[in-house]
Amino acid sequence: MPKQLKISPVQGLQGEVSLPGDKSISHRAIMLSSLASGESILHNFLQSEDCIATANCFREMGIQIKFEGDKAFVVGKGLQGLFRPSKTLDVGNSGTTMRLLSGMLAGQKFESQITGDSSIQKRPMKRIIAPLSLMGAKIEGIQGAKNEIFPPLKITGTKLSGIEYNLKVASAQVKSAILLAGLYAGGQTTIIEPIQTRDHTERMFGFFGINLTRFNREISIEAPNDFVGREIFVPGDISSAAYFIVSALIVPNSNITIKNIGTNPTRTGFLQVLKKMGAQIEIADEEVLSGEPRATIKIRKQIVATQNLVPSAGLKGIEIGGEIIPNIIDEIPILAVLATQAEGITIIKDAVELRVKESDRIKTTVSELKKMGADISEKEDGMVIHGPTKLKGAKIQSYGDHRIAMSTAIAGLVAESETIIEEAACIETSFPGFEARIQQLITNSLYI
Ligand code: S3P
Repeated sequence: MPKQLKISPVQGLQGEVSLPGDKSISHRAIMLSSLASGESILHNFLQSEDCIATANCFREMGIQIKFEGDKAFVVGKGLQGLFRPSKTLDVGNSGTTMRLLSGMLAGQKFESQITGDSSIQKRPMKRIIAPLSLMGAKIEGIQGAKNEIFPPLKITGTKLSGIEYNLKVASAQVKSAILLAGLYAGGQTTIIEPIQTRDHTERMFGFFGINLTRFNREISIEAPNDFVGREIFVPGDISSAAYFIVSALIVPNSNITIKNIGTNPTRTGFLQVLKKMGAQIEIADEEVLSGEPRATIKIRKQIVATQNLVPSAGLKGIEIGGEIIPNIIDEIPILAVLATQAEGITIIKDAVELRVKESDRIKTTVSELKKMGADISEKEDGMVIHGPTKLKGAKIQSYGDHRIAMSTAIAGLVAESETIIEEAACIETSFPGFEARIQQLITNSLYI
């Protein structure tokens, strides 16, 4: 992936694409198979920088992990099989690795240090340190303003005890950090979520045979005995599919089929939002494998001329907020792009968590889409977009945030002139092959 990505407007996107594995599930698959006894085979594992960072952290702790094509082979050594890492664990840009691993490291018999890139060093860690400390964890970090704590973290492994904890933030990363610590805690660990967040950890615990109970938003586990390696089929990443779904909805003459995409209901809020905006999306071939549902998604774009003659995507603006936000949190930048092409006002609220992602995604989405001529304004907890607007090419800054780079690249497909995305290498954190797949769909459309 070049440092700069150049996107020209296109006339159509056609064909079938398959996408790399889900990022959240790939992280958890490496973690659980490292803690299992014996070999696990992970099919369609996402070999992106973030997930490779997770694999490298476990390699540092003595786990053998091999990649072959899109498969990962992991030889787990059991719950007590990790070695003390000889150097600081490096999560790169991956918040999921940082937070989930911290939970697991808190219950080890050794001390470890964990850090990441400059963006990771700005991400709040008190949300995991507070509950883990109640379990007895010993974690020290860098003290920041407003009592916040930032990486690097020093984690002195110790005996943990189960807690009953009401999550303060609706965060799957925090929930999962506590569940992973719960694998090492005496007694029962119970978490009560304020709003349902992605449940991949719970599903994967179940898939590995770890006894976990769920009742409404309450999740409980007790430290299990050793569990054995499994074969895991990782579905395609719906957050990556979101870029192609939106591109097919806004680029005229588009007809895209995306196979084997994860359709876990804690991740498909994005599709519900699109349907409310008037999109027609077809879901076919649904099946459940390795505890996770998946399906084929088909999208076809019809062009609709509106009163002011800016072709809109045939979609209308809506208000998005409340309980759906954690479900669509990673898709909000690309939803903002779609909203610039929809008729009317789209209001996104209750999404203040966006401010502590790989970049402040409220600020960065608004500033970069504004450069492209979008009518978009920043609110404390979201943004307001008036559409449709004809976008123009611009020089975009990704701020090292993969989702900003990919969202603006998709906006560039319907802009009047060339769009240049600076620092586009960050796309590799979640989606190697993003550019090639867009190219493939453009090429297909040229021959139809
Ligand atoms: C993730 C949870 C979400 C999401 C992130 C991946 C996970 O973060 O934004 O990309 O894999 O658990 P939060 O838990 O901080 O909301």
